[in-house]
Amino acid sequence: MSKTKSIVVASLMIGLGMASCNSGNIRRNPGKIYAPDMTYSVAYDAYTANPNFADSQTSRKPVDGTIARGHQLPDHLVMGDTNAYKTFTTSMRFNEDELKEGGRLFNIYCAICHGQKLDGQGPLFASGKFASMPANFKDAKYIHMPVGQMYAAAKYGKNMMGSYASQLDSKQRWQIIAYIKKFQSTNGGDAFTLGAETAKADTAKTAQASVLVVGNGGKKS
Ligand code: HEC
Repeated sequence: MSKTKSIVVASLMIGLGMASCNSGNIRRNPGKIYAPDMTYSVAYDAYTANPNFADSQTSRKPVDGTIARGHQLPDHLVMGDTNAYKTFTTSMRFNEDELKEGGRLFNIYCAICHGQKLDGQGPLFASGKFASMPANFKDAKYIHMPVGQMYAAAKYGKNMMGSYASQLDSKQRWQIIAYIKKFQSTNGGDAFTLGAETAKADTAKTAQASVLVVGNGGKKS
């Protein structure tokens, strides 16, 4: 490179450098954007006004009747329709693990009043601080109670008993009722109909058995 060329290049670089640090002029123009539709979203941003909807909100609620993934279909029970309660039922069937889970939920949400022994003598009632006698599930009054009526009690509450709709989804409510019905079936109630084969438990057992064989070098112990 000749001497003159290097001088030209050097002065150009100094000039550019100085121009880039031009602090005297505040630049209000961001300059040219190569692909504006990549820089700025073509779609409406979540919180921007939207002229396509009367309420101008871009974020929409799910349409009526939308069911979140993993949730059950609505049960269409109407509060206060006590005739419908009596015939209302479910196609759900529960295996042993699920009944156990029903028992766990019962002990969390219901046993404080209805008692872990399902005899209506839960600690809250027994303490005398809760005046209304909770249902004694061993009692003749409740032993043949239709499952739908029980479901309605869990969903809407009954007199002094509050609703558990916000704490328990419909599967969990049925799980608890299956737990109560299973208990009643061995205490003078009707035959238990909400049960299923314990498919899950069996698979778990088989898997465990094969692990044991491998751990034992394939020998029978
Ligand atoms: C705060 C105390 C309390 C809790 C907790 C409670 N209950 Fe009750 N429950 C009652 C009382 C009191 C009654 C009696 C209502 C009546 O007949 O006046 C009752 C009645 C019932 C009945 C009979 C309904 C009918 O139609 O006669 C069922 C079934 C029942 N409860 C299920 C449950 C389940 C399931 C849970 C747990 C999710 C639960 N209860 C939690 C107090 C409670």
